[in-house]
Amino acid sequence: MFRRSLTLAGRGLAASRSRTLSSLSFLSEDHAKVYDHSTNDPERFWGDLARERIDWHQPFNTAMNCDMNAGKIRWFEGGKLNVCENVVDRHARLDPNRIAFIWEKDEPGDVERVSYGDLLESACRIGNALRARGIQRGDRVAIYMPVSPLAAASMLACARIGAVHSVVFAGFSAEALRNRIRDAEAKAVITADEGVRGGKRIPLKSIVDAALDDGACPTVGDVFVMTRTGSDVKMMHPRDVKLEEAMSEQPPTCPAESMDSEDLLYLLYTSGSTGRPKGIAHTQAGYLLYTGVTHQNAFDVRSGDIFACVADIGWITGHSHALYGPLFNGVTSVLFESVPTYPNPGRYWEMVQRLRVTQIYTAPTALRLLIKSGDSHVRKYDRSSLRILGCVGEPLNVEAWHWYHTVVGERRCTVVDTWWQTETGGIMLSPRPAPTGTQPKPGFPMLPFPGIRPLLVDSNGAEIVGNDVSGLLCIRGAWPGMARTIYGDHERFLNTYFRPYPGLYFTGDGAYRDVDGHYRITGRVDDVINVKGHRLGTAEVESALDEHPDVAEAAVVGFPHEVYGEGIYAYVILKDTFAPAGTMDDIVKSMKGIVKSKIGSFAVPEIVLVTPGLPKTRSGKIMRRILRKVAANQTDDLGDVSTLADPAVVEEIKSRHVELMKEREYAYGRKE
Ligand code: PRX
Repeated sequence: MFRRSLTLAGRGLAASRSRTLSSLSFLSEDHAKVYDHSTNDPERFWGDLARERIDWHQPFNTAMNCDMNAGKIRWFEGGKLNVCENVVDRHARLDPNRIAFIWEKDEPGDVERVSYGDLLESACRIGNALRARGIQRGDRVAIYMPVSPLAAASMLACARIGAVHSVVFAGFSAEALRNRIRDAEAKAVITADEGVRGGKRIPLKSIVDAALDDGACPTVGDVFVMTRTGSDVKMMHPRDVKLEEAMSEQPPTCPAESMDSEDLLYLLYTSGSTGRPKGIAHTQAGYLLYTGVTHQNAFDVRSGDIFACVADIGWITGHSHALYGPLFNGVTSVLFESVPTYPNPGRYWEMVQRLRVTQIYTAPTALRLLIKSGDSHVRKYDRSSLRILGCVGEPLNVEAWHWYHTVVGERRCTVVDTWWQTETGGIMLSPRPAPTGTQPKPGFPMLPFPGIRPLLVDSNGAEIVGNDVSGLLCIRGAWPGMARTIYGDHERFLNTYFRPYPGLYFTGDGAYRDVDGHYRITGRVDDVINVKGHRLGTAEVESALDEHPDVAEAAVVGFPHEVYGEGIYAYVILKDTFAPAGTMDDIVKSMKGIVKSKIGSFAVPEIVLVTPGLPKTRSGKIMRRILRKVAANQTDDLGDVSTLADPAVVEEIKSRHVELMKEREYAYGRKE
């Protein structure tokens, strides 16, 4: 039945181009049949979709060639395609005036609309400009830009000429940017004079200059600078060129490279449990298909929709749901440059009213922040255009779920809490699509997407069967959107995802499966934390703190935070040689400063506790379990500390923590 309806939906290429989106939706199908077919015969399921939905230069030979034991993932081998053509040209050809992007700039109402025709022209001009400067297929290009149509066009230009984009969130520091450029050996950087967020300017070009300073990135030959604010920035000739000028010198058409399905499309750096970020590598056809199909079906995307993913393009959510997913589906994507509270906590909803947004996709941390500001900021705007309320990045707590559903969605909209990761490329668990009549459940991403087989295992890798159970979340079998490697470090890829539980993909998350078989994510089981929806390795923060001249050792953990999901708590031992040059407050301030400059302000610990020691086992391993408990104020429940080399240190840490909490309470009380 599923096969039949797909065939009916797209008789030949011409028919498929003019079809309505909903004809390819799983939502109208019998969900159990779709799911069973997708998992019993993934090759056929994904193969049919790939033939149906992608414009190929050359058809693929084999839909699926994957060996999960060996971490070898290949989809649609033998096929040739161009991703930019698939997301832009096909719509520009049919309907050049259809709006691809609404750029909602930092100031409310400061809006620019970009049609598919305009977007094609920009991507072509940038592609030509890159080629003119010697960037070729396979070369890496770093993009450090504000959320903007030209940032999106730069990503698409890379895809068009076969270059590999590596977008770095424009909140990372110069040093973090430098490390990512060096790891990717990028040949060019595309940036802007300045970024603007929440009324504040961010000197992006100077940060790029600092990152490239002193020949730190010898592979970079060219820096393209988009004009965002028009502020006067230093241009270094011949390295630097204004992006718009370079574009104006180029023709508006650009031949698209014919890429192999498994060529790299992009790298996106994300945090792991060691200090070094991982360049997650996604390839062409599999990512495109998976992102497009999950976007369409999880959010019930229909022709004419105005989809607002408010995530920055520097994260995977922005890649898949501000850019590739909506454009693959030919709808309009809102590019949101600002923050949820600027100029006031009504910003999202005022924008929804003004732009007639049909789906909004945000993070729980933003919702929790807005809840605190009261319902009046929501209620005063007309939200009748909204159908779906999406969420991602961290657990959506039940209270926030209800607020989203009742206050924002007037009990009329579907709350879609999606679970996925940079590594998965697209949505893995989501309340939609679902069997008819299934109601979303607060706090639960709930159900696997067609083709996805989640399972829970214990720490020995044994599958935990049945319902009402918790365990480590793994995925059995491959799916097209999954990462193919960690750039330059395939061993690390295998060690992180495939070797812990052979034959399975290990997510790094724990999960609970309830009596109905629905999944809830309980959080990371490794040393990765989720702060304000940003994923961060505690080891990254530790290595930044370690560079402070007075720090002998640092241990960083997350603690439950009312608004941010998790907050960052750093335990720091000072060197014996330490001679105070100021007050302890000054020293803590300078420690925070070093984290800001090494990573970015979002990684700065909220709490720094100076301690004479850390709880270590006799073999010298830090017992983070104890540090997490103290940070969470659970000091009465520390469990067995008898295996520690020096159990007395725990008492010292506890009393210093209690003292620090009192001081903070006092300081906050005084501020109010
Ligand atoms: O711990 C999970 C959490 O975010 C992690 C992935 O982070 P990142 O690669 O930055 O991608 C975030 C956006 C796709 C996961 O391992 N996470 C993501 N979505 C959810 C979630 N935790 C609970 N519920 C979710 N819906």
